Amino acid sequence: MPQLNFISPDGEKHTVEGKLGDSVMDAGVRNVVPGMFGLCGGALACVTCHLLVDDSTASRCTPMQDFEDEMLDGTVTPRHASSRLSCQIVITEELDGGTFIVPEKNY
Ligand code: FES
Repeated sequence: MPQLNFISPDGEKHTVEGKLGDSVMDAGVRNVVPGMFGLCGGALACVTCHLLVDDSTASRCTPMQDFEDEMLDGTVTPRHASSRLSCQIVITEELDGGTFIVPEKNY
């Protein structure tokens, strides 16, 4: 099972086990990572799952689709170059050791 690292808003690192095929949001919420939410359950309707993807991890993530890009543009302030909606990142073996930063204000 891939191990995922979340950096919570207080700077603490939380390493959790990810289930293949689940989303990064699923792993963060299931493991009660501080600041992690997924209020719409991954339906791409809430943006509460917003995360920043560490540079070392970005190229290993599921590519961003147009609707996620539009959602980030219209609702996440500030949007960063590394912003993603974590419900749209599928956990694969390639994500093992990946790092995600939970922003101070998640939505
Ligand atoms: Fe709602 Fe990701 S959980 S957009």
